[in-house]
Amino acid sequence: MHSSHAEMSGGWSIMLIRKAVTTDIPQLIKFRKILLCHEDNSSMDEIFRNYFDSSLSDKSLVVWVADDEGVVVSTVCFCICRFAPRFENPSGLVAYTTNVFTIPDYRRQGIVSKLVSEAIDDLKTQGIGKILLHSSDMAKSMYENLGFVEGKNYMSINI
Ligand SMILES: CC(C)(COP(=O)(O)OP(=O)(O)OC[C@H]1O[C@@H](n2cnc3c(N)ncnc32)[C@H](O)[C@@H]1OP(=O)(O)O)[C@@H](O)C(=O)NCCC(=O)NCCS
Repeated sequence: MHSSHAEMSGGWSIMLIRKAVTTDIPQLIKFRKILLCHEDNSSMDEIFRNYFDSSLSDKSLVVWVADDEGVVVSTVCFCICRFAPRFENPSGLVAYTTNVFTIPDYRRQGIVSKLVSEAIDDLKTQGIGKILLHSSDMAKSMYENLGFVEGKNYMSINI
């Protein structure tokens, strides 16, 4: 049976791999603003807060985080979208990946790879058949190693 918690040991610490809860929202907003190159701009904070709050509670957003002794150091978010059914994906449910970020000091330890692998197992149990993403140049080979395939407009994996 799949658990929504896992542990990962890297050097000196044990990282908790878990789904995000509402108390993680400030860190999700911080990472989102860094990714959008608006780290010091607080003008959209309430909009981001409402988005994460409502989409986490109605489960249209699934977020996995790596938690190092209470500090969220890495996130991967999946927006769950329902398209028309396809033969290879009868539910029509597709996860679009966003807000993929690891704090610089924690990079290249396999954290996002672990988050995505855990998330894939979990998304499968929810009947989701495909994951899509637009990759940064930095992340492309990591996604390829995870089995994502480069398409015309996006990378994807059937799960
Ligand atoms: C891209 C990013 C999310 C990767 O996060 P990460 O936690 O470092 O990811 P991983 O450690 O799983 O994988 C990154 C690389 O480290 C390598 N790696 C994993 N464990 C390792 C280890 N123990 N020792 C050395 N290298 C390791 C992986 O093979 C991968 O290598 P590659 O890029 O050459 O393919 C992170 O660098 C980041 O936040 N970048 C800025 C934002 C960004 O680009 N986001 C992605 C948007 S699509």
